[in-house]
Amino acid sequence: MTESKKTPARPTLKAVRGTRDLLPDQTPLWNHVEATARALFARGVGEETDIVSKEMFTWEDRPRAASEKAQQLTLRPENTAGVVRAYIEHKLGETGQLQKLYYIGPQFRRERPQRGRYRQFWQIGAEVIGPQSSGSESPLRDAEILEMLASFLDELGIRDWRLELNSVGSSEDRVRYNAALREALQPIKHQLCEDNQRRADTNPLRVLDSKEEADQDLINALPKIADYLGPESKAHFDQVLAALDACKVPYHLNPRLVRGLDYYTRTTFEFTVTTGLGTQNALLGGGRYDGLSEMLGGPKAPGIGFAIGEDRLILTLQAQAEHDAAESATNPGAPGPDSRTWVSPRKLDAYIAPLTPAQNPAALALARELRTAGLTVEVGDGTFKLRKSFDIADTLARHIILLGEDEVSTATATIKTFATGEQVKLPRADLTTRLRS
Ligand code: HAM
Repeated sequence: MTESKKTPARPTLKAVRGTRDLLPDQTPLWNHVEATARALFARGVGEETDIVSKEMFTWEDRPRAASEKAQQLTLRPENTAGVVRAYIEHKLGETGQLQKLYYIGPQFRRERPQRGRYRQFWQIGAEVIGPQSSGSESPLRDAEILEMLASFLDELGIRDWRLELNSVGSSEDRVRYNAALREALQPIKHQLCEDNQRRADTNPLRVLDSKEEADQDLINALPKIADYLGPESKAHFDQVLAALDACKVPYHLNPRLVRGLDYYTRTTFEFTVTTGLGTQNALLGGGRYDGLSEMLGGPKAPGIGFAIGEDRLILTLQAQAEHDAAESATNPGAPGPDSRTWVSPRKLDAYIAPLTPAQNPAALALARELRTAGLTVEVGDGTFKLRKSFDIADTLARHIILLGEDEVSTATATIKTFATGEQVKLPRADLTTRLRS
């Protein structure tokens, strides 16, 4: 792509130095690498865990602090603004096509941690964005995304999800609504909790988000955004609802769903669940952001997207599986755990135990051979006592393979199958067949 020679009206936004965007033409390779890595981890370890917690979210880029290039960096709290920045920086709009971009990765927010709310958490998100001529503004994009999410949750086996839906209107609609809210809040403000009194002055929309029990009746009686939508916003929203009805995707209109991020226009939504998440019950959230590209100095590019809280998705699946297990234990007639919702990690095919450190290299060579053949394997260490190797192997794997001096010199292996207790010495060439049986 060639750089425009014109001096831009605003400074052009660029990826932070030392970071880069992975654009769609590179994703097949990235997908391939990631898929191979995941399969490899699964074969080698069975499961993957990576928990990192950091408190520093924003900092000065110190070496540049004194120069005019001084800048502050922040660990990303969400990805939508970054994706739109990339859309602008790489001029993806110039293709004229609708862009459908997705991401899976960690986000960071300095929030008070609790169940389902972390300072580093994972999101699976997607953004659909493009010039108006690409159909990016069509209500069908909204309905299409919602239908896809409903199918995704069904496919994963998430039960009793609930789609909460609202329209927050255009930015003009919101100015009128904000003024009406402010006015309605003035006479009742003193009856609200301290937090809501502050919000009533600074950002009245946030009052609608409040979970303060004592304030709910007053908040429910406040003006509704639906009554302040202009004809275009209203028609757009009606078409979203009509398409959802046609697909038979159930939804609940929630006039208080304004969402915490300022870039939303028109459709906003959340999918909530009742099992497993407690008060942090939003599994995912999203909405339309028709003005965000322009806010960031880019061309007009309406868009809509969502982000799923991957941690919360997993918590929900685990809670469902636990609930099912408890049900079938107390009521033998009840259906057992739904195997679609959560499958507990499968045991490894084998645990390789070198009997002394001298067999360590041969053990690793054998692990490489078996993993290449598609088997899941873990290797111990020649310093481990035999008892310890057996204990670990019994927890992790279906078989233990013992490699002593004799086995290495005769190209054999001693293998024990835990399920039957049978132990045999085999030529190495027969191992894979035996492990697969
Ligand atoms: P959000 O509602 O701030 O939206 O986050 C989306 C989802 O991320 C939430 O529904 C929740 O499941 C999960 N999540 C948020 N904060 C935490 C946390 N501290 N710990 C665990 N999970 C959390 C966005 O981020 C927007 N960027 C979504 C979007 C995409 N809108 C348009 N496009």
